[in-house]
Amino acid sequence: MPAQRPVLALVPRPTKSAVRPGQFTLGADTTLHIGTGAEPAADLLRTLLAPATGLPLRASPEGQLTLTLDPGLAGLGEEGYGLTVAPHAVLLRAAHLTGLLRGIQTIRQLLPPQALSESPQPDTRWVLPCVEITDLPRHPWRGAMLDVARHFQPVSYLRRYVDLLALHKIGVFHLHLTDDQGWRMPVSAYPKLTEIGGHRAESQQGPAGSDLYDGVPHSGSYTRAELADLVSYAAARGVTVMPEIEMPGHVRAALAAYPQLGNNPERTLDVWTRWGVCDTVLGVHDEVLDFCRTVLDEVMDVFPSPYIHVGGEECPTAEWTRSVAARERAVAQGLSSPAALHGWFLGRIGEFLVRHGRRPVGWAETGAELPLNFTVMTWRDAAHTLAATRRGHSVVSAYHRATYLDYAQSEDPGEPQAQPGDVVDLRTVHAHDPVPEDAERSAAERVLGTQAQLWTEFVRTPERIEYLTYPRLCALADRAWSGPTDWPDFHSRLEVHTARLDALGVRYHPLTWPDPLT
Ligand code: ACM
Repeated sequence: MPAQRPVLALVPRPTKSAVRPGQFTLGADTTLHIGTGAEPAADLLRTLLAPATGLPLRASPEGQLTLTLDPGLAGLGEEGYGLTVAPHAVLLRAAHLTGLLRGIQTIRQLLPPQALSESPQPDTRWVLPCVEITDLPRHPWRGAMLDVARHFQPVSYLRRYVDLLALHKIGVFHLHLTDDQGWRMPVSAYPKLTEIGGHRAESQQGPAGSDLYDGVPHSGSYTRAELADLVSYAAARGVTVMPEIEMPGHVRAALAAYPQLGNNPERTLDVWTRWGVCDTVLGVHDEVLDFCRTVLDEVMDVFPSPYIHVGGEECPTAEWTRSVAARERAVAQGLSSPAALHGWFLGRIGEFLVRHGRRPVGWAETGAELPLNFTVMTWRDAAHTLAATRRGHSVVSAYHRATYLDYAQSEDPGEPQAQPGDVVDLRTVHAHDPVPEDAERSAAERVLGTQAQLWTEFVRTPERIEYLTYPRLCALADRAWSGPTDWPDFHSRLEVHTARLDALGVRYHPLTWPDPLT
């Protein structure tokens, strides 16, 4: 263990910080001096601190705690901020509101951990150590994906999930809304998507290939109002909700609702009860493209995110090869084979999103197969990041061996059931640099950042989500915000940080790593 406990122990670590003598104490008489445009940051500070502290933090021109937008700090970008805590005053400044929201989370972490509690903590003194902090992220894209298609989670839990992302300065909540095993996104033009696609009869037990089922039906879908509310809730915390609607594969739940969208309209399909890659995919006739555009229109109405994820991966093309209509479509489009319909299909969808001012995102299979206007998430192989950036894509690294939280966190046989085949331990997550070592400058500049993935075949409850997510997401957040930090430094900050997770009631995986100095 490092000999000294870190004084600030912030996660992620700020770019520059210096501890000064003294402290500032927040009390019932502390007031906020709120600059023009900084009101949402004041609201967030009050909202976050009210449950534990009960502090009113009223506005006053003489306020000791100043929140101000300062165009002079434009060099710190969208999310950077400066924070000065002196014995009689606190000054939080940023060029943009998002920077102030990030700084509010730093103030929250500087307070005693009881400040994060959801119940009143009357015996705590709300002291902030005097500090000078200048902070900005290394990567603009620091994300977390949650699969609510395989196991549904109510919006009440998604709000808590967002709160925990915001605490760690994670800015993108990637919400995986549809898959073979469930469709959770309401679409008024196609109500059966959720009425039928939102239910499955039972779930496979064990890994892909097993023939055991639990016999327990599983259901759930969101209303438009719930999702719109989630978007606003997240925005107030500086988090963008990026929706994902899978196509042209991973659509079995949609095909169960509307068989005419597939390659065989006579066929009745169930919402898939198995895990793995399903070979039933969308057809390529005009009605299907119209369906996708209508769905995406409604998605864009609910989600203002500049990025819209349309999946794109694991799309077996055997159905297209067998289908006369698909083969004719391939010929009519001058394609070399029915398999090339995959790129053609995503190309049409990508153009549609771009026409509506959005950026399409897809999962890469090789890094070299998606239309160039797609932002690419590389997941299969670390080398795909370099391939995709060299091809000209913007890339988010989602390399499965470093960012998939559905793998176990250790070899311990007591770990809960996980995706077989790999262990993704805390140290591996912390060591993952989204920028490939051998990337030349132009390629490196196309790496937007990284994100964690939680696929939920084996994850049914919020408790399990949090056990798998924390502390590994702390490591990803640290690396993606701060750049390389050494392991002992991160480890010693994380040890202090767990008191904050405890105060929030997060049931994280125990910190049972080996001695970090060995
Ligand atoms: C993926 O793991 N299906 C992107």
